[in-house]
Amino acid sequence: MSKISAEISNLFCPQTLFVYGTRREDGGADFGLFCWISYYADGGLCMMAGISEDKLTRDNIERTGVFSANLVTEKTLALADYFGCNSGYDKGKMDIDVNIGNGRVLDVPVLSDSPVAFELEVYRKVELDSGRVYLCRIRNVLADEELFGSETLEEKMKRIAPVCAAGNTYFGWNGERIAAWGEPGLSVKAGKAVNIEIRKLTEDRAGDYLHFFDVTPHSTGKDEHRCYCVCWAGEDCGGRDFTTAEKRRAVAAEYIKSGALQGYLAYIGHKVVGWCNANAKSDCYDCLSWKMFMQDIKKDEPGIRVKSVFCYAVAPEMRRKGIAAQLLSRVCDDAAEDGFDFVEAYPNRLFVSEEDDFMGAVGMYEKAGFEPFYEAGGKIIMRKNLKQRGR
Ligand SMILES: Cc1cc2nc3c(=O)[nH]c(=O)nc-3n(C[C@H](O)[C@H](O)[C@H](O)COP(=O)(O)O)c2cc1C
Repeated sequence: MSKISAEISNLFCPQTLFVYGTRREDGGADFGLFCWISYYADGGLCMMAGISEDKLTRDNIERTGVFSANLVTEKTLALADYFGCNSGYDKGKMDIDVNIGNGRVLDVPVLSDSPVAFELEVYRKVELDSGRVYLCRIRNVLADEELFGSETLEEKMKRIAPVCAAGNTYFGWNGERIAAWGEPGLSVKAGKAVNIEIRKLTEDRAGDYLHFFDVTPHSTGKDEHRCYCVCWAGEDCGGRDFTTAEKRRAVAAEYIKSGALQGYLAYIGHKVVGWCNANAKSDCYDCLSWKMFMQDIKKDEPGIRVKSVFCYAVAPEMRRKGIAAQLLSRVCDDAAEDGFDFVEAYPNRLFVSEEDDFMGAVGMYEKAGFEPFYEAGGKIIMRKNLKQRGR
């Protein structure tokens, strides 16, 4: 096999993940997620941990000299990812439901749901230009009792299912992709108030938009489902090639630049978790999806300005949390402000499946003040009148 010199990275080197537990100054627990950790021998088994840049975990280790390292498994991945994507400097980080225990030998918080936790004491540290490497003695290993039963090691490993990280992706013990970094943790605060921000798609958000479709399957991870929503756009699709995800991605980038692709992105922090394609109806009669699916839909008299809601895509872990309704509300507000007469939507008359009901549900539109207009092609065409008082 011939070799090439590749960019310096650890892309193909799976890394085991650990949640580090430390004590804050007020005695409370803080947890962060870490993968630069390994073993070495120095008069017994030891562990070394690399921590870069400022973070609360590092401040706490500097102050106390101790921490716990809790093995991340598929069961604890959502929490672990949350701990890795949120800074301990943000006051509300630990305002979540989590089962916390304590070390037996050291005063360190441990994750009760992790099957193996190391209680670590730093005995030497290496100061780096932008970080530290901590050399630690293992003062105790806290392990679930059932790991010492009669099962083989293979059976035990399968049961606890540790998670590996490679190339910003989490992989399961069976080698299959679980999710991108930053995805599983979104559900942790899902039961609590999540701060969703709706922003209009603009050229400077093209990167966020494309990344959302790169990593967010509509319902499966299949390439053919990575649509980049290019088939609903204010441009004649004639001569366009939409046959691969790569080509659709390139067209999407072009459409965003020209303004042919319009809609709104739902953000949690810097991460996009949802999308709604909404565009001036009469601009879209020549797009591919209109030609394929909308031939039964009436076109409007000239002079009536209608904004159409064509499609929603919400990250799987963020569904059923009202994100589509928030996107819709913003579409209506902006359409009213921009002088449109109606917002029009095309929900399926009967629920088909999450995958096929990408145009939204009748109930959501009713709640948002839409009324049935007529039925065609299995759809209820619903409208919200923006010029009526008291909208
Ligand atoms: C998958 C993953 C692995 C990480 N590994 C490390 C690591 O090995 N070293 C490090 O300094 N930060 C690492 N981080 C970043 C920290 O987890 C992150 O800075 C976190 O906010 C720290 O929490 P704290 O602010 O409460 O200390 C990782 C993040 C993720 C998502």
